[in-house]
Amino acid sequence: MKEETHIGMNRTGIQMSPFDTSAMQAPPASEIPATPGSEAALAQMRSLYIAEADTLGSVPVPGTVKGALTTGVSMLTGNNPEILLDKLGERLAFERTSTRLYDALITKVETLQEGTTSMTLGELRKIREEEFRHFTMVAAAIESLGGDPTSQTPCADLVGVESMGLMQVITDPRTTLAQSLHAILVAEMTDNNGWELLIALAEDQGQNSMMVDFSVALDSERSHLQMVQTWYEEATIGQAISNEAVDEAESPPSQQLH
Ligand SMILES: [Fe+2]
Repeated sequence: MKEETHIGMNRTGIQMSPFDTSAMQAPPASEIPATPGSEAALAQMRSLYIAEADTLGSVPVPGTVKGALTTGVSMLTGNNPEILLDKLGERLAFERTSTRLYDALITKVETLQEGTTSMTLGELRKIREEEFRHFTMVAAAIESLGGDPTSQTPCADLVGVESMGLMQVITDPRTTLAQSLHAILVAEMTDNNGWELLIALAEDQGQNSMMVDFSVALDSERSHLQMVQTWYEEATIGQAISNEAVDEAESPPSQQLH
């Protein structure tokens, strides 16, 4: 079994060097003048960039005549079809990443072979397939509006950057099952919120068949979230129990605490 969270030679905290602590804490932070490299200089430089920066890109104009007409009509009636297209692009990107997150989790679960949770590989593979099905469903929805599913919208770019950390956590060979499930939990919570908003936007644009399809997707995402929450809790508690068992097995009777 993989070595779980344990007490070890971690030297990252200030307590490791009481002598240097006092030198480091004087003078008070408020008295330190702004110098190159300080937080104030950093904030000032960021402000300059924020003021001058362009946006994260744009929503492409639908490439088909039908799409251009649909978008044009919606624009004339005061709706904002570009927001729906942007958010469809976001869900498309996120469902693709979710599929890959589950692929990585499946590899980890197959390798670790832990028995700390009620999770099965069959359940993980089923969720993975549902994420992939959502991806293809959103691609079809974008096409139905005349949009191009291969284009990257601003919010697709955004969630791509956001989810890089989640992927790094799960593909890191050192992370435990509980730690990997925590990253999946972040993804599922975001996913649930994303579908809720997308349904509201589809309703706003009068896209009734999208509303029906997306409601089915939201139902399955809700059940993913419930399952992942349970497995995450089981893995965290199971880890604590297995740590206790290791401690008892490794400590000779004379070294046990009384
Ligand atoms: Fe999901």
